[in-house]
Amino acid sequence: MDQQRQQWGTRAGFILAAVGSAIGLGNIWRFPAVAYENGGGAFFVPYLFALLTAGIPLLVLEFTIGHKYKGSAPLSYARLSKKFEWLGWWQVAISFVISTYYAVIIAWAMSFSFFSFDLKWGDDPGGFLFGEYLKLAEAPGEVGGIVSGVFIPLVVVWVITLGILVKGVKKGIEAANKIFIPALVILFLIIVVRALTLDGAMAGLDAFFKPNWSTIADPKVWVAAYGQIFFSLSIAFAIMVTYSSYLPKKTDLTNNAFITGFANSGFELLAGIGVFAALGFMAQQQGVPINEVVTAGVGLAFVVFPQIINEFPAFNGLFGTLFFVCLTLAGLTSLMSIVETFVAGVQDKFNVSRTKAVLVGGGLSAIISILFATNGGLYFLDAADYFINQFGVALAGLVEVVVVAWVLKELNNLKSHADSISDIMLGAWWKVCLAGITPIILGYMMFQNILTNIKDNYEGYPTSFLLYSGWAVAIGAIVIGFVFMSLKWRKSPHEMNNGNKEVS
Ligand code: ALA
Repeated sequence: MDQQRQQWGTRAGFILAAVGSAIGLGNIWRFPAVAYENGGGAFFVPYLFALLTAGIPLLVLEFTIGHKYKGSAPLSYARLSKKFEWLGWWQVAISFVISTYYAVIIAWAMSFSFFSFDLKWGDDPGGFLFGEYLKLAEAPGEVGGIVSGVFIPLVVVWVITLGILVKGVKKGIEAANKIFIPALVILFLIIVVRALTLDGAMAGLDAFFKPNWSTIADPKVWVAAYGQIFFSLSIAFAIMVTYSSYLPKKTDLTNNAFITGFANSGFELLAGIGVFAALGFMAQQQGVPINEVVTAGVGLAFVVFPQIINEFPAFNGLFGTLFFVCLTLAGLTSLMSIVETFVAGVQDKFNVSRTKAVLVGGGLSAIISILFATNGGLYFLDAADYFINQFGVALAGLVEVVVVAWVLKELNNLKSHADSISDIMLGAWWKVCLAGITPIILGYMMFQNILTNIKDNYEGYPTSFLLYSGWAVAIGAIVIGFVFMSLKWRKSPHEMNNGNKEVS
């Protein structure tokens, strides 16, 4: 069953897939609000610092691990050192959790693409979202029944995603990204240009870019910048290791990482500009200051945006559809990459066919995702998202750099591997960032995070609810890492024919 490992058709195909994974819901609905809340223009200092000292160096690291060890994250880590296979599974488990709720948000975006035709949300988009559409339960922890309006598009999201994944790396993922990403960029540019020409747009941009320097010394702002970079670049999700394992022998790892990092941040900036121009317009229409119209996450995309669309001077429905189609496309290309991590992991470990791995892995995630399509779904989603990001992605990123740089002391070997095939040589900065700056800042960030979450319940939710829908999810991902490591490989990681001989 151990056929030749699949490969990307072209370098551009790989870059589009990596960029497609990076550009996602995080760029469009998360970044603008995070940047605004954390000092506007002044946020760019910690953001760029995090991008250059952690984002891109970690991307180079993950690309190099995947390329050198040619496996899914668990296989690559097992080849790096037998003892650390769990780190690969942990990251896969994090992706698994994210896939279960990420698919649901894409399903909402899909519904809203249709609701835009006749502005179905009416004059009260907030009431429409929580009442009529999500039929939200009264209190966190209540499950209620399945909400058909969410369930039906959710089935469509899974059929599309798993359908693409079954087709494989080149004919599925690469081909889909070659269509979805250019389409996303063109459609998004149309929205941004329109937003910039609305009345009040400049006041919006002014609010977005005006630096509030008093925030820069606040550790919370730095935590936010690192969190955003990790989520947005799909770092510590097992994704970039998996994707780069499908690269041919001759490729340019470091350059690819820079391209991916800058393309993602470029799109993020574009999203910030578009969103704030539109917010400036709305604030002017309603005669209120900008800070009264900005919200993050669900509120921004599914409440504030419909409000903006209501106020548009012309073609309201069209622009509404364009926006939600963009969100859907950005989400789908990321979801593919998230699910691919466990498809690849299961395939490698249990030596099963790709179709079987997609059906079992993707199928299980699809079934669990139904929980988020119930009346209580939004509360579960909010808790899972917060905890898996704070104590999943960021913590796994920290453990990854500490293990590779300090425990296994592999940075020099990996650097030689990247340098031997890349145009740009990794200077001392790469090692300083990964072995010094990133662990110190991330370590501090973790410490702060744990203190904050012990002191105050996230969003004021009841402790019991947070224990099972937040903490248990994040800790469960680590446990899963060890459980999967304890299972037997159908073939030894060192024997598979796609392996690299230089394993420790
Ligand atoms: N990187 C993906 C996003 O930004 C997960 O949504």
